[in-house]
Amino acid sequence: MLVRVKPSWEIPEREITPERLVFNRRNVLKGAGLMTIAGVAAACDRGSPTQTAGTPAPEAGLADAPDPTASLYPVPRNASYTVDRETTAEEIVAGYNNYYEFGVDKDDPAREAHKLPIRPWAVSFEGMVEKPFTADIDTLIKAMPLEERVYRHRCVETWSFIAPWAGFPMKALIDYAKPTSAAKYVVMKSWMKPEIAPDQAQFWVPWPYTEGLSIEEATNDVTFMVTGAYGKPLSKQNGAPLRLATPWKYGFKSTKGIQKFIFTNERPTTYWMALGAREYGFWANVNPQVPHPRWSQASEEVLGLGRRVPTLLYNGYGEQVASLYSGLVNERLFM
Ligand code: MTE
Repeated sequence: MLVRVKPSWEIPEREITPERLVFNRRNVLKGAGLMTIAGVAAACDRGSPTQTAGTPAPEAGLADAPDPTASLYPVPRNASYTVDRETTAEEIVAGYNNYYEFGVDKDDPAREAHKLPIRPWAVSFEGMVEKPFTADIDTLIKAMPLEERVYRHRCVETWSFIAPWAGFPMKALIDYAKPTSAAKYVVMKSWMKPEIAPDQAQFWVPWPYTEGLSIEEATNDVTFMVTGAYGKPLSKQNGAPLRLATPWKYGFKSTKGIQKFIFTNERPTTYWMALGAREYGFWANVNPQVPHPRWSQASEEVLGLGRRVPTLLYNGYGEQVASLYSGLVNERLFM
């Protein structure tokens, strides 16, 4: 007789997010006058990973933009950052995306992001820095200590993947920027081009995409600036030429297509906070015990794995990052 042994990762059916709790942003957008709610629904709009079928190959978006740093990849792997599970297939990571500038469906970015010109690309350093300046992306990348790290990525919508990112510790970028001692936060702003991203013409949405970290978070060793993946320059749909990876936080913190770093002593209002502060906070650390107001965060669907696994506190990076929050009382650390 066959006896089915229940694997440790299996979770009861009742913990899986009921689809009826997940808004479909397109349907909400059809309702006039509900624009803010529509925006809030975006981070919660889950499609099925099977939507990747039929999307262009990941390289398609890069074909039009020769990248002078391409020969730097692959870069040496940092053995301290690995994950005890197989990395997710490249075509899944580059075919199932959130990049709302390009649309609300998971396959929109893979189809549309090729329109974003990424060379030349200027990155500015502003606010509380010794001297504001602008650097060309290739000068910046060549000045940084490039390495590969295998990181988890956990979206607030409860899907996740594991990717080999290439890039450099954000600490190196902060040293390069030379903030003054008055700076407490670093704000990251993405690009603004309504001519190629029609959703940016929606004046009620707080474009450009904006996120922020405390300086302590930005200089933690786990915080990584991503310029490549899978041994090559990063695809445009994954955030080329420069994105953030803070794997202990929900994925919406990981700003793509960064153009500005602004140093400030005021905690910024981020894109998602502006759309829905009740659902999205500044810290956004992963915690399976703290549900999103509309669904459980107890488990996640690992893309390509075909099953859900339990979510880990700080997405498994607690040893490196938990101490960042020890002094913070009465703060909404996990949303
Ligand atoms: N950055 C920009 N500029 N625009 C976005 O819409 N979406 C965020 C984040 N960075 C987003 C962004 C969200 S909600 C997630 S989950 C991740 O990017 C998704 O990254 P991926 O598509 O590479 O998996």
